[in-house]
Amino acid sequence: MSEWIETIDERLWLHPDETGADAAAFILQALGLQPGMRVLDAPCGAGRIAVHVAKAGCQMTGIDRNPRFIARAQRRFAEEGVEGDFQVADLRRLPFDGGFDAAYNWGGSFGYFSDAENLLALQRLAAALRPGGRLLLDLLNREAVLRDFRPVLDLGGKRTHTIWEDQRLVSTWYIGDEPESAGTSVIRLYTPAQTRRLLAHAGLTWEAAYGGKDGSPYGRGSGRLIVVGRNG
Ligand SMILES: C[S@@+](CC[C@H](N)C(=O)[O-])C[C@H]1O[C@@H](n2cnc3c(N)ncnc32)[C@H](O)[C@@H]1O
Repeated sequence: MSEWIETIDERLWLHPDETGADAAAFILQALGLQPGMRVLDAPCGAGRIAVHVAKAGCQMTGIDRNPRFIARAQRRFAEEGVEGDFQVADLRRLPFDGGFDAAYNWGGSFGYFSDAENLLALQRLAAALRPGGRLLLDLLNREAVLRDFRPVLDLGGKRTHTIWEDQRLVSTWYIGDEPESAGTSVIRLYTPAQTRRLLAHAGLTWEAAYGGKDGSPYGRGSGRLIVVGRNG
């Protein structure tokens, strides 16, 4: 049986190319990135954040399962005159062992699989880090999502019908006036305590939590749960 990540409409995945500078500025700060550091963006989409991290002097590697997004990221880097290494890869099978100073998973790009496979994805991200390297995970804040649960959401050009089932947001998407659904996403949300345990199972120590890319501290009402963990 196909997974939802394969069947959902490709138009739903990416934010516009011109966004990403503010997320990159936050990531640089939260991970303490310095020029020359090796950094992994997984999944990178079309590289809208990675390009800014590269311009700050980091050596970027980006992975995504979608070859068209990877090709777009390569074109963007070439157009902007920065270097980067891009590979098609699945989060659960990242082919890296220990070379990265830091990695980030941005934009609600975690929790797409079974609990066991989500842990596996986190373990593969952790395995990419050198000892002491840092991982940043940008998650939807489960506490706030459930407190203000919205079964129907209009996102401007896109709409969702969502149920909460088995600790997951199960959302059916519609684009514009198209009558047919554009697919259903299934995203496991983790509480802060569950995230801390997940990190520990992947050999990561929880270092900090933020509530948004403005660097505000995490609170129950925050839009996001952005966690930084250290390898070892
Ligand atoms: C919401 S987008 C975020 C992309 C990027 N982090 C950003 O903020 O622009 C999620 C990305 O995850 C990728 N993706 C989905 N499932 C994946 C998997 N199993 N392995 C690798 N990438 C995956 C999609 O192709 C998409 O580019």
